Amino acid sequence: MPILNRAAEMQQEIAQWRRHLHRNPELGFDVFETAAFVAGKLGEFGCDEVVTGLGKTGVVGIISGRRGAGATIGLRADMDALPITEATGKPYASAKPGKMHACGHDGHTAMLLGAAKYLAETRNFAGTVAVIFQPAEEGGGGGHEMIKDGLMERFGIRKVFGMHNMPGLPVGHFAIRPGPIMAATAEFTLRIKGRGGHAAIPHATIDPIVIGSHLVSALQSVVARSTDPVESLVVSVTKFHAGDAYNVIPETAELAGTVRTLKPEVAQIAEQRMRAICTGIAGSFGAEIEFDYDANYPVTFNHAEETVFAADVAAAIAGETNVHRDIQPLMGGEDFSYMLQARPGAFIFLGNGDTAGLHHPAYDFNDDTAAYGVSYWVKLAETALAG
Ligand code: NI
Repeated sequence: MPILNRAAEMQQEIAQWRRHLHRNPELGFDVFETAAFVAGKLGEFGCDEVVTGLGKTGVVGIISGRRGAGATIGLRADMDALPITEATGKPYASAKPGKMHACGHDGHTAMLLGAAKYLAETRNFAGTVAVIFQPAEEGGGGGHEMIKDGLMERFGIRKVFGMHNMPGLPVGHFAIRPGPIMAATAEFTLRIKGRGGHAAIPHATIDPIVIGSHLVSALQSVVARSTDPVESLVVSVTKFHAGDAYNVIPETAELAGTVRTLKPEVAQIAEQRMRAICTGIAGSFGAEIEFDYDANYPVTFNHAEETVFAADVAAAIAGETNVHRDIQPLMGGEDFSYMLQARPGAFIFLGNGDTAGLHHPAYDFNDDTAAYGVSYWVKLAETALAG
């Protein structure tokens, strides 16, 4: 079965919703207008129930099939944008300076709305579909907040599925893998306290910039020398702040960055080694180094059976040759990980074609891909709930 005719017919309407959302991006949990737009549409479509305010600003629409009782599955999209100044020059570009849908969550939301409209019209399944729209995917853990608010129990959700667009993957292609598909993330901050002084009298100081430079170098050895080379680990120092003058050695420096892993044991080794390096370098230079390490999103782990199921659904839409069933994991993080910890399910990528990358100011969701995304959601629901 190729894309659904009805989904192709809806493509214009979905693009209109998507462009409306694109023009009006909102950040984090502050997705009030977006959530109201989503809830309004779900009401118009005739969902049996529309629940707002779950996980602060999340929205859930409930659609029951006309073929009798059955299980409930959850289909999830994210609604939040990024603090980026848009550079697409598109007529529907962001009307809010410094905010932009640069990860395609506008497209994810519009596609799931399209699927909800179709499913509410046809209801050709047994059981129930919960369409889940979460806030704060880009940091903040909106999905986690929805789970803490009882998302799974309240609607009796048995399985959950997520989808994200992927620039560089052709339109009409899908990509997935069983097991870890996206990384666990952690953030660290290193505060170095040395002794400031005159730049021309360095021997009377404890220079936090020199110490910080040693730290940046030494931290590279965590990946290179402390963990198995076949395991995946990223340690990136992304901030280094110190000093205000040409002739002053500052008193303090602050470094920060991110750690990405696919296995908890690798994350544990990384944290231990980073702590030991801080202690060692502090001792050898006579400085104090404060080390803060905060684990953030867990690994996005695709369940084996649901991954095969999702790939089979994608193949029914796109053809087997356009479904990549064993891609490399990505070291980016994803809040859908919490939903996959709570229930079995799978996260799949949808080709966005030859566009700028995610989180780039020139990125734009590709409206041509929506018919594939909507068809995938519909086919997935109708197959999982065939009765
Ligand atoms: Ni995203």
